[in-house]
Amino acid sequence: MIVLGIESTAHTASVGIVEESSTILGLASDMYRPPSGGIHPREAANHHVDVLPRLVEEALREASLTASDLGAVSFAQGPGLGPCLRAGATVARMLALTWDRPLVPVNHCVAHVEIARVLSHLDDPMLLYASGGNTQVVAHFSGRYRVLGETLDIGIGNFLDKLWIALGGTFPGGPALEAAALRGSELLALPYTVHGMDVAFSGLLTAALAMAARGADRDDLAYSVETTAYAMLTEITERALAHRKMKDVVLGGGVACNERLRGMVRAMAEARGGTSFAPPKRLCVDNGAMIAWTGLLGLQSGGSVPVERTQVEPRQRTDLVTVPWR
Ligand code: ATP
Ligand code: FE2
Repeated sequence: MIVLGIESTAHTASVGIVEESSTILGLASDMYRPPSGGIHPREAANHHVDVLPRLVEEALREASLTASDLGAVSFAQGPGLGPCLRAGATVARMLALTWDRPLVPVNHCVAHVEIARVLSHLDDPMLLYASGGNTQVVAHFSGRYRVLGETLDIGIGNFLDKLWIALGGTFPGGPALEAAALRGSELLALPYTVHGMDVAFSGLLTAALAMAARGADRDDLAYSVETTAYAMLTEITERALAHRKMKDVVLGGGVACNERLRGMVRAMAEARGGTSFAPPKRLCVDNGAMIAWTGLLGLQSGGSVPVERTQVEPRQRTDLVTVPWR
């Protein structure tokens, strides 16, 4: 079985082709980068409509396949920005109807988690899903991915992006802040907000902006923000591990690209006698391969649906969908 998956929930349009062994046969992505400020949903959606036909062709070419080799089409149903989701869903419906293939809607958060899990070869890890809009500590039990802890306000990636844009940079801020943090050395005191297994970033954002306005060195600020925010994530992940009596951690989502975060989580997991794993960076950020892989899992457990039941779900949380393949 080979599945083609379409990702379009926010800034990135992407098409991936994956086969049953989880080998990625083709992957073509194109990120919408606003010239300044944050993402405008309609402009991002227009970008996705423009590039998706080319990305489908590129992914098929890289895989050396034609449509007749595909067993199904999957797409990210939610959560995400409505216009962006509709762009990907429309292309997916059109391809499924034209090629006469089953159509499988996929939850974007579960897809981040599943691609990371299969690559880790860890059967039942704790998952730290850290991305633009989401920040969740997730474990699987009773048929779903359960959110044990999460952000109480904005996602960690949105926090990093907002801060970097306010400091004069452009989207995405996470990678640029990572580079700046490597040059910083002084640890500035910032608010550290952990409530049980939840975190919050708005106080940290306000304090960091106030420090910047008072002339704090940008590299030191980046270093301090990363240290504080990633320590918060590491702490709630450790607490979740202790509660569930688990040892291993798998990271997913765009912020899991960050080497500092990877290192802090690894040190924590190893100190507890476990391990940690993060996928290659192109599979941490939004990508069609994770949608294809999760679509394949869904299809194998009977998850294809008629086109008329494939409306997008902009608020479809991680724990809203069942996971019948586990
Ligand atoms: P969600 O999965 O919540 O819907 P998303 O789909 O917007 O989020 P992803 O592609 O999963 O986004 O992640 C994008 C985020 O990852 C951006 O906020 C970006 O700044 C952040 N990011 C990417 N690389 C790094 C890095 N090296 N360090 C920190 N953050 C990073
Ligand atoms: Fe994402």
